[in-house]
Amino acid sequence: MFDLEKFDLKLNTDVIGRNFIFAEEVPSTNSELLTGSDLYKKHGTVLLAEKQTDGKGRKNRAWYSDDQLNLTFSILITESKYFKKKVNLLNFVSSLALAASVENLYQLKTELKWPNDVLIEDKKVAGILIESTSKGSKIERLVIGIGLNVNQIAFQRKFTTEPTSLKKELGHPVEREKTLAEILNNIEEMLNTSIKFPDKILEDWKSKCKMIGERITVVNDDVIKQGIFNDIDKNGFMVLRTDDKMETLHSGDVSIL
Ligand code: BTN
Repeated sequence: MFDLEKFDLKLNTDVIGRNFIFAEEVPSTNSELLTGSDLYKKHGTVLLAEKQTDGKGRKNRAWYSDDQLNLTFSILITESKYFKKKVNLLNFVSSLALAASVENLYQLKTELKWPNDVLIEDKKVAGILIESTSKGSKIERLVIGIGLNVNQIAFQRKFTTEPTSLKKELGHPVEREKTLAEILNNIEEMLNTSIKFPDKILEDWKSKCKMIGERITVVNDDVIKQGIFNDIDKNGFMVLRTDDKMETLHSGDVSIL
């Protein structure tokens, strides 16, 4: 069982996670925060669920996570200064914060995979799904949904990238409470950096993505593209160099050729 007191002792934020909701079971923490009651309206609210019955991944995939072993949570962002310029920057903020937390607490080397996976030794330890609701062209609520594999060691299904967990990599279980607090501490700090120095976030992200410069395949729905992963542009999109041109890609599953 998640120990709220232990978590609270390690949380150093001003806003993120100060309104903290713990749920035994919800369909999806993202859906709950996006469409839920006014209880969930406060900027920085974090909803953690021990079990999701309809956990969502990118590209309409499901996110599977064994009950009570991992961290599946969402953060509500309603202050538009965090997303009005570049929503994509939030992907980078979140994945950088996850990577920093894992490295600081457990000395495990992480890499980032575009658009928003966190890898250890080429295996996926965490994924991020950002969703929003809008009125007209204005974003009203935005949620950053994070799934981090912590103490699960068996993964039965087929995955596009092989999964791993902190326990699998370290060989011993880890404490979820201090891990979540560290992640939220880092997310708050990096969110603030992203307002003042967005380019720093982009540069830090790029320096942890070893696929840049490699020959890659990008699969997006049924379209397959190959080329050199040239760069990430200011908006967080991939610049792919094919034989005759540069193409800007907004999403896709990337693998090294
Ligand atoms: C991915 O890599 O495909 C993104 C996975 C995101 C999973 C998290 S778990 C908490 C939050 N609630 C959801 O339904 N999905 C995200």
